[in-house]
Amino acid sequence: MKVVEHVAELREHCESARRAGHRVGLVPTMGYFHAGHRSLMRAARAHDDFVVVTLFVNPTQFGPNEDLSAYPRDLAADVSVAIEAGVDILFAPSVDEMDPGGPPRTKVHVAELTEGMCGAARPTHFDGVTTVVAKLFSIVGPCRAYFGRKDYQQLAVVRRMTQDLNLPVEVVGCPLVREPDGLAMSSRNAYLTADERAVAPALFAALVDAVATVRAGERDARAVERRVADALAHRREIALEYVELRGAASLEPLTRVDGEVVLAVAGRLGRARLIDNVVIQVVDGRVDADLGVEVGADEVLDA
Ligand code: PAF
Repeated sequence: MKVVEHVAELREHCESARRAGHRVGLVPTMGYFHAGHRSLMRAARAHDDFVVVTLFVNPTQFGPNEDLSAYPRDLAADVSVAIEAGVDILFAPSVDEMDPGGPPRTKVHVAELTEGMCGAARPTHFDGVTTVVAKLFSIVGPCRAYFGRKDYQQLAVVRRMTQDLNLPVEVVGCPLVREPDGLAMSSRNAYLTADERAVAPALFAALVDAVATVRAGERDARAVERRVADALAHRREIALEYVELRGAASLEPLTRVDGEVVLAVAGRLGRARLIDNVVIQVVDGRVDADLGVEVGADEVLDA
């Protein structure tokens, strides 16, 4: 595996891979790899000939009072994980290398899907994400790009950008990976103290409980959201930011649980902002739910 720091060198490697007839797969990340990242790398390795993982803590997707300077980093450990996952190139540029003219004056903005949910508390976040992802697509020229379903709104927004701009990239959504106690894997879990870590699975437990009410026949979207909020109300350590039930692809607000919907939650626990979601399908009275996969099971799924 090569670790590349410069855009021009990365372009050359990707161009020669394409000239050799190889399909390039891209896994965009901000590093501090965990099992969720590893499953994205494995998916790319399984489907593409040449796998590029990018590691860039993108300043433009952090708000002024957010955790940019504290964001966890460990390049040496990340290099080992990427080697083990069979990655061809780990691209780890500096901020100056990615944005030599300072923060981009050109921004990619996806309307509507970025409103509400995480966009409410983080109004500039998704413009930062879509702008850097568009730049990475332009530099790498991948056939496919892999994103985790944990960042559900991000995945929907990136899909919409790719469709609206006719970008020749297939956006692949990969399963949300959970710790054995249900906590969604996230680099930001590193911020949790031992006591907070013990409380954190409450988010997933509340979502599972709400899915049970849908299985039992509840179809009122507000009632399902309230069920999650009520379950978390006695967890005083968690400052709930939102619970929203929306259309799974369009992210449109819904009044009824019908078809494919996403039930998403965000809250602050100590220094960490945690997000989680489940996707529920209600078709002809039958209820199915995608709760993600437990760490370890994702490897079995890929095999
Ligand atoms: O999900 C992330 O880690 C980031 O938002 C992404 C997609 C790498 C863009 O910086």
